[in-house]
Amino acid sequence: LQSEALGKVQQAEDLKALQDVRIAYLGKKGPITEVLRGMGKLSKEERPVIGQLANEVRETISEAIQTKQNKLEEEALEKQLEEESIDVTLPGRPVQIGGPHLLTSIIEEIEDLFIGMGFEIKEGPEVETDYYNFEALNLPKGHPARDMQDSFYITEELLLRTHTSPVQARTMKQKDGHEPVRMICPGKVYRRDTDDATHSHQFTQVEGLVVDENIKMSDLKGVLNAFAKQMFGSERDIRLRPSFFPFTEPSVEMDISCKVCGGDGCSVCKGTGWIEILGAGMVHPNVLEMAGYDPNVYSGFAFGMGPERIAMLKYGVDDIRHFYTNDIRFLKQYHKA
Ligand code: PHE
Repeated sequence: LQSEALGKVQQAEDLKALQDVRIAYLGKKGPITEVLRGMGKLSKEERPVIGQLANEVRETISEAIQTKQNKLEEEALEKQLEEESIDVTLPGRPVQIGGPHLLTSIIEEIEDLFIGMGFEIKEGPEVETDYYNFEALNLPKGHPARDMQDSFYITEELLLRTHTSPVQARTMKQKDGHEPVRMICPGKVYRRDTDDATHSHQFTQVEGLVVDENIKMSDLKGVLNAFAKQMFGSERDIRLRPSFFPFTEPSVEMDISCKVCGGDGCSVCKGTGWIEILGAGMVHPNVLEMAGYDPNVYSGFAFGMGPERIAMLKYGVDDIRHFYTNDIRFLKQYHKA
């Protein structure tokens, strides 16, 4: 029996076959277990002899199986290492290097400019309450100017913010009605528009707000002028045109000149030579008051601009949808080397 079993162990070619041998000879239904189970039927003299013999045979087979198992495992490991070995002489595959999205770069550029003028960066929720998106900005329920911004409502009181202006009200609330404010807030906004070359149902804005004692329209103009010159070039001029927003009074729209000057003089780009780039104004007294600031003591200015529009003007992008369709050929043009 023993030599038969050892022969089978030697023949086993893999771990599975070896396991079968183990079960056949040492298992519950194997011959050795049977012998040991039948011990009761033997005479007193036979019992120790047969018992010892059976145990020895079991030990021997078991050891042989273990030795074989170690050998098989080692072989399997070696084979695996051999199969997985790496040819270090193969040429490498080029790694695609990504870069920031054009919009991300523009927003960072805007942030850097305003941080340089002492502004802090704020954020607010994209799912906004009707109160902050409209009411706190002097747009009570039923106000006709709400139609200027077709909204995605979630419930009667919740919507996707249509502009970053609610962060004006939120920031002023945080400052408790007496600390000065000097912040910008970049973020995504949503409007129920049909997408085309100049409209997108989702786009970005950067809001700005300054509140303190003695803030004047000339402060607004100075800050925006500094911004325009740094963003588009020192040869650019700005002009403010009267406009209307319920949360600012007076309200303006700002244009930048699109005069392009080169070696042989200056040429004016198409149309009037001016391009509108943002909305702004002096914070409406009602807005200050609702946020807890005394409009007889404090005044402020606010502005809101669209980074897509700024990027389109700066780089001559002709379709707002390029920012969202993620064609790598478009995006790659704006990766800095
Ligand atoms: N929230 C306005 C818009 O989305 C822009 C704006 C911001 C105008 C701040 C004035 C002051 O059109």
